[in-house]
Amino acid sequence: MSKSGSRTSTAVLISGSGTNLQAFIDATRSGELDLDLRVVLSNKRVAAGLARARSAGIRTECVEHRDYPDRERFDAALIAVLDRFEPDLIILAGFMRILTPVFIDHYAGRIFNIHPSLLPRYPGLDTHQRAIDAGDAWHGSTVHFATEELDGGPRVIQGRVPVMPDDTAESLAGRVLEIEHQIYPRAAALYASGRLRYRDGAAWLDDQKLEEPLQFDGKNVRSRDQ
Ligand code: GAR
Repeated sequence: MSKSGSRTSTAVLISGSGTNLQAFIDATRSGELDLDLRVVLSNKRVAAGLARARSAGIRTECVEHRDYPDRERFDAALIAVLDRFEPDLIILAGFMRILTPVFIDHYAGRIFNIHPSLLPRYPGLDTHQRAIDAGDAWHGSTVHFATEELDGGPRVIQGRVPVMPDDTAESLAGRVLEIEHQIYPRAAALYASGRLRYRDGAAWLDDQKLEEPLQFDGKNVRSRDQ
């Protein structure tokens, strides 16, 4: 719920195909997730995810990063557009730009990111290939609150997938995406119900500090000690 007691007004930021955005659209349509998806914003005019938003009747905006000389001015433009929609929650769903501290502070504690690795392993790019090259048995994805540290904010939910002997970065990425579509709406649902919050640099669930991220077992979300 938002501060006003209505549905959580949400902005989703994308750069690409938007399959995670689609998971949010589907979960809100089916009633599993009670979000008011007010706007989908892309930093690329050609992002396929914009078409997904339009066909779902969601307002779209584009702020091309190439039109701005530096990150600070790009982020100021993002804030100016997003604030028109008064978002309670910002969902980064494959948004491939590094955000400045000014942006993070402006929406402090109200930004989620999803990163395709079992953080703290592999922040940054090429996560799937890095997991394969390291010989990892498991890979996956993490939903976390975004802070000034790239891919470093408090972790909320992780979902894992096995790395198969014949996996390529592409095949592994596909399996990770499937798990992302499960965990990201679940994290947002916890936020929308008011059970999940960011405070004092940590994630809190039901007023208990989350020392370890929740784990998705393929059906449910559990704490690691359950
Ligand atoms: C997802 O796998 C997401 O974790 C990743 O981009 C993909 C977007 O897919 N995000 C990052 O790498 C951010 N560092 P989608 O556009 O189909 O949702």
